[in-house]
Amino acid sequence: MHKKITIIIGSLRRGSYARKIALNVLDMFPEDFEVKIIEIRNLPLYNFDYDDPLETDFPIPKEYTEFRNTIKSSDGILFVTPENNRTIPACLKNVVDICSKPNHDVAWKNKPNAIISHSVGKMGGYSSQKNLRLALSYFDMPTVQQPEVFLGNSPTYFDKNGTLSAVRTKKFLQDYINRFSQLVKK
Ligand SMILES: Cc1cc2nc3c(=O)[nH]c(=O)nc-3n(C[C@H](O)[C@H](O)[C@H](O)COP(=O)(O)O)c2cc1C
Repeated sequence: MHKKITIIIGSLRRGSYARKIALNVLDMFPEDFEVKIIEIRNLPLYNFDYDDPLETDFPIPKEYTEFRNTIKSSDGILFVTPENNRTIPACLKNVVDICSKPNHDVAWKNKPNAIISHSVGKMGGYSSQKNLRLALSYFDMPTVQQPEVFLGNSPTYFDKNGTLSAVRTKKFLQDYINRFSQLVKK
């Protein structure tokens, strides 16, 4: 059964390890899954005036509409994110907010999801992942509960071409993607 997965990366940085992780897991999904990274850098900062029917001179940005439509048409969302100051990066929170409105048409609603957090430090973005789960808890999103994927010391997993060369981490991620794929199929 053909399924569409959208990957959201919580970093805008060119050399982002989150992006490297995302690029490496693209191929871990079943063959009949269509998996794409969606870019978030051009989304205007969330302002409720865009969604407020009383504010008639704030048309909804076309970037919001396109982004919300992509999320709505996805069968599952994979977040890959670092941690900024013990929470999720602002670019990712912006996306959480954008897709949380309008109330009658919430793009996140019931959408299966999975989260990979990472850090160049040892804690693997623990706090970032917990904060993301907290923010998403409002939308009834089925989530891969276990294992939780916190990738510490993330720069050590890759060879110089950005390929995931750490064998145990690769297997761990493959198992996680299998579980997520199963959740999406259900
Ligand atoms: C503004 C800022 C805040 C950060 N805060 C944290 C933090 O709270 N915890 C952590 O483990 N790493 C923190 N870091 C380090 C990031 O883990 C590191 O920069 C990482 O490479 C960012 O992810 P990326 O490679 O996907 O861009 C922070 C980095 C920046 C730039």
